[in-house]
Amino acid sequence: MKAVTWHGKRDVRVENMPDPSIKEPNDAVIKVTSTGICGSDLHLYEVLGPFMAEGDILGHEPMGIVEEVGPSISNIKPGDRVVIPFNISCGHCHMCGMELYAQCETTQVREQGTGAALFGYTKLYGQVPGGQAEYLRVPEAQFGPIRVPTGPPDERFLYLSDVLPTAWQAVEYAEIPDGGSVTVFGLGPIGQMSARIARHLGRRVIGVDGVMARLEMARRHGIEVIDASEVHNVPEEIRFRTSGRGTDSVIDAVGMEAHGSPAAKLAQTLAGMLPSAVAAPLMSNAGVDRLAALNQAIDSVRRGGVISVIGVYGGMTDPLPMLRMFDKGITLRMGQTHVRRWISRLMPLVTDEADPLGVMDLTTHRMPLEQAPRAYEMFQKKSDGAIKILLQP
Ligand SMILES: NC(=O)c1ccc[n+]([C@@H]2O[C@H](COP(=O)([O-])OP(=O)(O)OC[C@H]3O[C@@H](n4cnc5c(N)ncnc54)[C@H](O)[C@@H]3O)[C@@H](O)[C@H]2O)c1
Ligand SMILES: [Zn+2]
Ligand SMILES: [Zn+2]
Repeated sequence: MKAVTWHGKRDVRVENMPDPSIKEPNDAVIKVTSTGICGSDLHLYEVLGPFMAEGDILGHEPMGIVEEVGPSISNIKPGDRVVIPFNISCGHCHMCGMELYAQCETTQVREQGTGAALFGYTKLYGQVPGGQAEYLRVPEAQFGPIRVPTGPPDERFLYLSDVLPTAWQAVEYAEIPDGGSVTVFGLGPIGQMSARIARHLGRRVIGVDGVMARLEMARRHGIEVIDASEVHNVPEEIRFRTSGRGTDSVIDAVGMEAHGSPAAKLAQTLAGMLPSAVAAPLMSNAGVDRLAALNQAIDSVRRGGVISVIGVYGGMTDPLPMLRMFDKGITLRMGQTHVRRWISRLMPLVTDEADPLGVMDLTTHRMPLEQAPRAYEMFQKKSDGAIKILLQP
């Protein structure tokens, strides 16, 4: 089969790889029909190289048709249309029992001290072959796959794999009070959907980004925006718009590659030049995140407010302004999304013909799988108005 593989910084290729097959009785294999490129993939493309190996298959936002199932699988059958959550969870361990699916104890990557295994996401998360491919082996298939109706286009459902549950969790964790307000930093796919969900739940939303196409998309979904490329002091502008207090909550939908952190950018660049054996321990022991967005979040939230960090960070000793955080009495919530936990809330919204979250207005580009190298480059450079790109094998 054809698959998108990682080969180094800004070097992804489409190669022929062996077709996956059933290895465990609770596996399934799906034929992928659409598969997203995520902001998390950009971290692999740019700064997380030390945790990747040449030839790793990328991708964690797939959907498709069940091709084959192992003997112990009865919840899905060949021919079913399914979306695959990006985290691999068993559904029956202690953590899954608490709906903490991203911490599943059956798939936890113990040798790395990390949570549940993820598709297509570095040695830290189990090095499981990913979903930017013609076929995907799905472990723990008794729990993960989400069956969806046939008929509507893939885009209706594909975002259940990551973007929608991630945005839902971001909003849930932000604990925005009734009648309250939230600032969303970063208007990539995750920020767009976080903003729309908060609006849908009746909250006031201010979205911040510096990219015109992304600000425009947010605006056409009724979001008030701040253009970070024009406004010099964003937190001050947020206070100006909120009686001097800041918003009740803030969502950081940017993560470790925020613009405006020159020193950390240099550290990331230098780490990227070292061989993996040296760079990986360096990166997991030092603070190499670009913290501009998180620092602005801390500055922008009102006293006693909540910050929900959904953007991915990876430094072990990042410097944070503890005095300000403590003094303001900030609550900080974060983590990988427990995808399955939010599906029952989202399913009625994505199957509603009226499309209340506007899932049909997020994808900007659909490209054949073969064009993955160009798609990654466009998404990273945000060229040609790229906001969300789907690959079609
Ligand atoms: N927690 C999870 O389970 C989970 C799941 C999916 C994605 N993510 C993470 O969410 C983040 C966003 O993903 P995405 O797909 O939307 O990515 P993206 O790269 O398209 O979006 C990031 C956006 O942030 C903007 N930005 C950069 N610096 C900024 C700053 N200082 N202030 C305001 N905006 C700034 C960029 O212009 C861009 O539009 C990534 O870190 C990704 O890894 C986390
Ligand atoms: Zn993702
Ligand atoms: Zn589990």
